[in-house]
Amino acid sequence: MKILMVCLGNICRSPLAHGLLRAKLKDTNSFVDSAGTASYHVGEAPDVRMIKTARNHGINISDLRGMQFSVNHFDEFDKIYVMDESNYNNVINLARTKSDKSKVEMILNQIKPNSNAAVPDPYYGGDEGFENVFKMLNQATDIIAEKVKNGEL
Ligand code: 4NP
Repeated sequence: MKILMVCLGNICRSPLAHGLLRAKLKDTNSFVDSAGTASYHVGEAPDVRMIKTARNHGINISDLRGMQFSVNHFDEFDKIYVMDESNYNNVINLARTKSDKSKVEMILNQIKPNSNAAVPDPYYGGDEGFENVFKMLNQATDIIAEKVKNGEL
């Protein structure tokens, strides 16, 4: 199973989702990556606040580097999880086929199906925003990892 996590900048939310799921699937043959719909932070390490929050919970994301989402990712990945509606629209706008579209899902629908709830962008806020994002993505990636291991994805 190849899974791509997508947010806007690929320096806060999607690198954390990437690092969490990578750690939870380390004993499987799955592949996890992440990307941003924008190009602002291509080649950059994650935001230091996100690196610290992840590290406080035993997750290392310091090796990750920003990449921009592109249409070929629909061919490379089986599932594409987005953080909010804006990410969803940006990714869906690049989809070429129904099959492409069917790969894209709001990540918090794993916790609450059909809620279309957003993982709030913590970039402009304080530390509690990063901790809040950690809690949400930890829960969502637990469910995704379980589904991958059970062959349900
Ligand atoms: P992310 O957060 O989408 O969770 O990586 C952001 C990081 C940077 C910017 C926007 C969102 N930015 O505008 O630079």
